[in-house]
Amino acid sequence: MPSLEPAEITAGRLHLRPWRPYDVDAVHLACQDPQIALWNRLPQPYQRADAESFVLRAAPAAWAEGTGTPFAVVDATTEQLLASIALIDISVSGEAEIGYWCAAQARGQGVISQAVTTVTRWGFGALGLARIEWRAAVGNDASLRVAQRTGFTVEGTLRQALILGDGRRVDCWIGSRLPTDPPPTALPPREPR
Ligand SMILES: CC(C)(COP(=O)(O)OP(=O)(O)OC[C@H]1O[C@@H](n2cnc3c(N)ncnc32)[C@H](O)[C@@H]1OP(=O)(O)O)[C@@H](O)C(=O)NCCC(=O)NCCS
Repeated sequence: MPSLEPAEITAGRLHLRPWRPYDVDAVHLACQDPQIALWNRLPQPYQRADAESFVLRAAPAAWAEGTGTPFAVVDATTEQLLASIALIDISVSGEAEIGYWCAAQARGQGVISQAVTTVTRWGFGALGLARIEWRAAVGNDASLRVAQRTGFTVEGTLRQALILGDGRRVDCWIGSRLPTDPPPTALPPREPR
């Protein structure tokens, strides 16, 4: 794959930028959260060396090899780390998958919905992608809500297609968004849990 120029995008209160070496401690801290470790299939326990490996090596390699676009999502004013979002597994034929987590203290404020909208639009525009795919373990309702809110079409369930952070192999939902899809419509309020 041709290498990709690391990009920076500002969208409202969010700034999306490539990972920088000083993010290691914040990634290490955020990924202590059991929800992130579980749904994003991270090494457990998640050690500082894991954060170093991601920030210092895997993330720059993805841009350089053109296989992914790992962005740190930070508060545009304070630069506090809020989330991680990436297009991954970018193919020569113009497909990619979107992946994300949000730091526990920043959840429920629309951070990931805004970041998904931004990265999806950028992926279609700047990278010329033809299809962006979303996958989440069946039962990850917060991630499903994000996908619905940002205009992804849920296409079905893949049986036993995902391995979680605790090693369980589970069914996953699959969905996609195409450049020709209409803008997302407002969702009805979520049912109380
Ligand atoms: C999924 C996740 C990234 C969402 O991040 P976020 O910034 O809180 O997302 P947003 O605020 O943009 O939207 C979250 C939506 O999910 C809803 N939600 C949150 N928790 C929920 C739950 N347990 N069940 C159903 N919906 C839930 C919120 O109400 C919101 O919907 P609404 O705005 O329509 O009310 C975050 O919860 C997270 O990091 N989870 C752990 C890791 C993970 O699941 N990664 C994705 C793997 S596919």
